[in-house]
Amino acid sequence: MKSRLLQHLFTRFWAIAGAVSVRTKILGIVLGLVLLLGLGITAQVRATLIRTMDAQLEEQAVSVTRDLAARATDFILVNDLFATHQLLRETQTNNANVRYAFVIDDHGQVAAHTFGDKGFPVGLLNANTAAHDDHHRTVILDTDEGLVWDTAVPIFGGRVGVARVGLSEAGVRRAVDSVTAQLLLTTVLVSIIGVTVSALLTWILTRPILNLAQAAQAVGRGDLTQRVPRWANDEIGDLAVSFNSMTEALAKAEGERVEREQLRARYVSGVIAAQEEERKRIARELHDSTSQSLTSLMVGLRSLSDVCNSPAAKQRAEELRGVTAQTLDEVHNLAVQLRPSVLDDVGLPAALERCVNDYQIRYNLIIDLIVRGLESARLPAEVETALYRMVQEGLTNVARHAQAKTASVMIERRDGIVRAIIEDDGRGFHNRLGLYGIRERAELLGGKLTIESEEGKGTSLFVEIPVK
Ligand SMILES: Nc1ncnc2c1ncn2[C@@H]1O[C@H](COP(=O)(O)OP(=O)(O)OP(=O)(O)O)[C@@H](O)[C@H]1O
Ligand SMILES: [Mg+2]
Repeated sequence: MKSRLLQHLFTRFWAIAGAVSVRTKILGIVLGLVLLLGLGITAQVRATLIRTMDAQLEEQAVSVTRDLAARATDFILVNDLFATHQLLRETQTNNANVRYAFVIDDHGQVAAHTFGDKGFPVGLLNANTAAHDDHHRTVILDTDEGLVWDTAVPIFGGRVGVARVGLSEAGVRRAVDSVTAQLLLTTVLVSIIGVTVSALLTWILTRPILNLAQAAQAVGRGDLTQRVPRWANDEIGDLAVSFNSMTEALAKAEGERVEREQLRARYVSGVIAAQEEERKRIARELHDSTSQSLTSLMVGLRSLSDVCNSPAAKQRAEELRGVTAQTLDEVHNLAVQLRPSVLDDVGLPAALERCVNDYQIRYNLIIDLIVRGLESARLPAEVETALYRMVQEGLTNVARHAQAKTASVMIERRDGIVRAIIEDDGRGFHNRLGLYGIRERAELLGGKLTIESEEGKGTSLFVEIPVK
């Protein structure tokens, strides 16, 4: 229970003290120490002073009273009240601490006192009584004006009377209070000087740490040019050196990584360009040469069937012409898939429409195509090709893996970015690796691919490519 409370208090304390800066912590420690030391010393000095001064006061009380008793004897014996008064007044003026003095005669009555017109206070007479054989007797009276050391000294063994003197503590208290005030003032001054000096020192001490912290934050944000100076030849200096070599190593590794990445990108883009070039060449070849040959073959077969006399040969020639026409169609489709000339001639939207139509027919799929923001200006050729290939590859995946009924393709250009979304309602998949072809093409153009897919809930590919 108690330890839980302690732990709770400590947690609360640390929540506050731990949150302030190192500078404030050090200042707090210095201020706390100075105050603790100053207040401790003040309290100790005050207690000691009061103790010794009280002891002195008591001694003084005894000696003053005995002196009074000795000197008053004769006057009392001859009953000289005037001289007794005189003596009492003298006693009072000679010692600032004396509050009052009086003499009691052998009947126990006050013979003379220093209270003047105010009158003798009730109860004071019996507040202290000395037995006849007492040397002296002191009691401490608690009055309105503080403690009073009241001492009684019997005169002639009490046969003549008793001398009583009261010494007030007020003077002593004033002296002690003045010393205490001086000590407290000193403590405050020392605190101010201590805090100023330690503020300066902590500023010097923590500057390199703050530098390091800032540099580390900058490195965390990816700025690897950060270096910190070695301020001092101590642990913080060592830390600065280690920090610098660490950032250097990081910068070097990062440089190598970037170089490798550039190399890879250059390689991949070379491969893609070569692939495109090759597809273009084959498509052109198919169109210019193969299609032409097949067309002449068809024309030849037509004239052959015209000149044929035998119906069997004529029918055979017609059949062959049909096969040739189908092959021409296939070759044409193949050429379009390899490199749709519309992409070069009319642009991406038309090419995509063709491509989507082709997939709908070939794979018995319903595919929505939405193109926005591409009416006014054409995209750069490499972006158009990449988008076309990505849609092609995405739809091929839908056809091959998704078992989907419907799919949709959306392409939109807005705020300097082209977004392509290829979605299907198929079975979805877990593995988010794969799809390297699409990812690679997107990243080569400074864009990215995001895949959203859940088992049984279809697949969405989000492609973003920045364009100027
Ligand atoms: N639309 C989709 N629906 C369901 N699964 C898919 C879909 N697209 C991709 N996948 C899964 O992701 C895997 C990786 O696709 P990726 O296109 O990279 O390779 P692939 O289609 O298998 O081969 P290829 O290199 O010929 O394209 C596929 O094998 C398939 O399991
Ligand atoms: Mg695939």
